[in-house]
Amino acid sequence: MQTIPTQLSAAFRKAINEAFGVDADPLVGQAQNPQFGDYQANCAMGLAKQLSAAGNKTNPRAVAQAIVEKLDLKEMATTEIAGPGFINVKLNPAWLACQLQQVRSDARLGVPSVEQKERVVIDYSSPNVAKQMHVGHLRPTNIGDAISRIVEFQGHEVIRQNHLGDWGTQFGMLLRYLEEVEGSGEAQVADLEGFYRAAKKRFDEDAKFADEARAWVVKLQGGDARARELWTKIMNQSRSHFEQIYRRMNIKLSRANERGESFYNQFLPDVVRELKEKGVAEESEGAIVVWVKGFEAPLIIQKSGGGFGYATTDLAALRFRSRELGATRIIVVTDARQSQHFRMFTDAARRAGWLEGVEFNHIMFGMILGEDGTPLKTRSGETVKLVDVLDEAESRALEMVKQKLADRGEQMSEQEQKQIAAAVGIGAVKYFDLNRDPIGNYVFDWAKMLSLEGNTAPYLQYAYARIRSIFRKAGQEASADAAIVLEHPAEVALAKHILRLGEVIGLMVRELKPHYLCTYLYELSTRFSGFYENCPVLQSEAQVRASRLALCDLTARTLALGLDLLGIEHPERM
Ligand code: ARG
Repeated sequence: MQTIPTQLSAAFRKAINEAFGVDADPLVGQAQNPQFGDYQANCAMGLAKQLSAAGNKTNPRAVAQAIVEKLDLKEMATTEIAGPGFINVKLNPAWLACQLQQVRSDARLGVPSVEQKERVVIDYSSPNVAKQMHVGHLRPTNIGDAISRIVEFQGHEVIRQNHLGDWGTQFGMLLRYLEEVEGSGEAQVADLEGFYRAAKKRFDEDAKFADEARAWVVKLQGGDARARELWTKIMNQSRSHFEQIYRRMNIKLSRANERGESFYNQFLPDVVRELKEKGVAEESEGAIVVWVKGFEAPLIIQKSGGGFGYATTDLAALRFRSRELGATRIIVVTDARQSQHFRMFTDAARRAGWLEGVEFNHIMFGMILGEDGTPLKTRSGETVKLVDVLDEAESRALEMVKQKLADRGEQMSEQEQKQIAAAVGIGAVKYFDLNRDPIGNYVFDWAKMLSLEGNTAPYLQYAYARIRSIFRKAGQEASADAAIVLEHPAEVALAKHILRLGEVIGLMVRELKPHYLCTYLYELSTRFSGFYENCPVLQSEAQVRASRLALCDLTARTLALGLDLLGIEHPERM
């Protein structure tokens, strides 16, 4: 199915062509004021200018009039010219009902699959090995996962890449320390945090240890078998920690998506060679650097001692993604503080020709703050572990579930309560994070994110569960061949919104803003409330009841799909 703006655009384009013999974008958008219509075409002003300049003096209203005369929208909509020459479009309820019938039998709920399939590499989550994930990893993991799901749903081929920080000089001390404690039964890697801290302490306090640690870095880089063996132990331990978090957070990353910094190590010398050869990089005081316009200091891609760094690895990753993985679009999700780093190395990559035919998007996100407006910390001033956030989310949500049950005097198994609490608690944290432009900072606020009122996950989940309860009460699902009839304004308003999903998803894939979907879903539920308050469902006579049940069903399915795309669960009961 095509989205409504696509259908309108095609009809308008044809009319413009017939009226003036030119091909022009009709500039179809949502109506500014719903009183006058649902969509509007804003092309008459520009066209009038263009035609007048070409010697056919005219004015916007006349242009709009000529377009409308040629316009054939069939049963779809009626039009009206307003103001200086806006063409307002009002969709017909009968046509909307027909569209909804089609959506009902479509698993994609009318969302078109793209014709131009892209191969999209998405680098997200990307935590550092040998450390626990902390609250700072919530955003890259969550935002990246939602974007992957949405882009994939639109029909693109998505290649998820977990760019793990699994390489670098810190491994020297970790390997040296693991060698020391291995077999001693104590301080094993299982306690990632403790292990890291203990290794660091030894490194800082013991010069001999530090020297040996540096030797381990060289061994690891040279492919020494023992170094590799110890490194693998740390990797496995970290991986099982990440996997636990991903499973709880409903994140689609697995071992198959891992391509950490270590992987690119083999390509670094060649990356530097190619950049030099192409005249992008040059020598400076023994180091190899890339100068980028607008920056005072150059990007160092090889230090004077011969070592490589984060930037060289990112260049290698970019080259690999474009050349070997065949990406046509690359998306990387990191915190906004890396903005300069990204601008610099992508500039170098562009000059090297590695971004030809590739769209590159750096999604930058802001910080999570505590109530005092500074970066979120525990009471004792430490970094907040992500596991603790997830635990607290679940236990707070469990309280809520128990409260609700008590209020309603209902029973539920302990197991089901826990399942719902996990869905609601984790969903609340994820949604609160997604429901805003990623670039801004936000204050982490349990009460707000868990609220059952307002634009939150619990509110949407509750809306979904409430619709499902209508069907439980009805003792039947919506019948597949019930005719949909839209009469009450609240029914029409709901129908129009359901039909906008494809449009919203298209916009999201273009701009990579998951909060557009949040806003859409929230509005869907408020429109549903408006409908449910005004239009009795179960008490209506058979035909109306069947039509309204179909609307309930479509709303629930749209909510479910939307939440799925955000990686948020939707329990049948709440
Ligand atoms: N490991 C990095 C960190 O924890 C994030 C890596 C993001 N991806 C990248 N290609 N640089 O900050």
